[in-house]
Amino acid sequence: MLSTSICAKPATACHAFKALATTTVLVTAVHNGRAFSTTRPTHLKDIFPAKDTPLIKTTPAAWPHHGYTMEEMKAVVPGHREPRNTTDWLAWKTVRFARYWMDKATGMDRDQQVDKKNPTTAVDAEKPLTEAQWLIRFVFLESVAGVPGMVGGMLRHLHSLRRMKRDNGWIETLLEESYNERMHLLTFMKMCEPGRFMKLMILGAQGVFFNALFILYLISPRIVHRFVGYLEEEAVHTYTRAIKEIEDGHLPKWTSEEFQIPDIAIQYWNMPEGHRTMKHLIYYIRADEAGHRGVNHTLGNLNQKEDPNPFVSTFKDGHVPKPALKATGFERDEVI
Ligand SMILES: [Fe+2]
Ligand SMILES: [Fe+2]
Repeated sequence: MLSTSICAKPATACHAFKALATTTVLVTAVHNGRAFSTTRPTHLKDIFPAKDTPLIKTTPAAWPHHGYTMEEMKAVVPGHREPRNTTDWLAWKTVRFARYWMDKATGMDRDQQVDKKNPTTAVDAEKPLTEAQWLIRFVFLESVAGVPGMVGGMLRHLHSLRRMKRDNGWIETLLEESYNERMHLLTFMKMCEPGRFMKLMILGAQGVFFNALFILYLISPRIVHRFVGYLEEEAVHTYTRAIKEIEDGHLPKWTSEEFQIPDIAIQYWNMPEGHRTMKHLIYYIRADEAGHRGVNHTLGNLNQKEDPNPFVSTFKDGHVPKPALKATGFERDEVI
């Protein structure tokens, strides 16, 4: 059975887990090597099998994916929008702070980190991450990434109801973003089995993150969109680095002939035959993240109360803004 536990590297990954574990339960989970493992999909217990009922044939995605060409996905690059004011700076530093702790909690060694001066654009590290380390990062990242769109969409929906005003197209984009992030998470959940420690970390992160964003979105939705823009810069960076490490031959389990990506991903992105490897899957996910990055940086530049959402609007000159290729987002006068 092809199974990699994070505790295959006791001095590194497990050390970080131990440092954080404060209860017997957590330490036991780590010692048992069940903190997190990555296993070939065919050997995994299906933790969310499709429910078979007497009447229902299939339940398709509520928001079908619009798809990408290979050229569009390859054109995505890591990018960074320089903070322009104090709130931008605060949003950026909050993301970097969260990233610092995520690196620590997931056992990333110093030599596995990239150039600190260009943390969201440099992709070379002295030592690659393992498949298990990547999956930990993907699962944790995706479990938090699905929160802000839901908070923003929900609060704008309630605002529209209580003020009896139009929303101008923001709600759907924000809810679709959270749906898309959840599909990323469900895809990775078909490849791994998080243990109790990981589940607890996710639970804690969601409790803190949801409530903090809820309050912050009421106070300043602009800061939240900027924060998400920066969070998505990190996501694009993470997936770009993973693609590079696959290309450099450091992740043999994912390039092995036997490795199959989950059906849920093939169906959701409508991945064509011959483009169904782990690298292709990460190309699709990275393009999604680049879209969120451009959308949220743009939304952070708009008048939160009055401006329509340019990404669901039809323009007088017929042009269609492509947020995935605009890392810094569009300025207000480019799209309104
Ligand atoms: Fe994602
Ligand atoms: Fe994202």
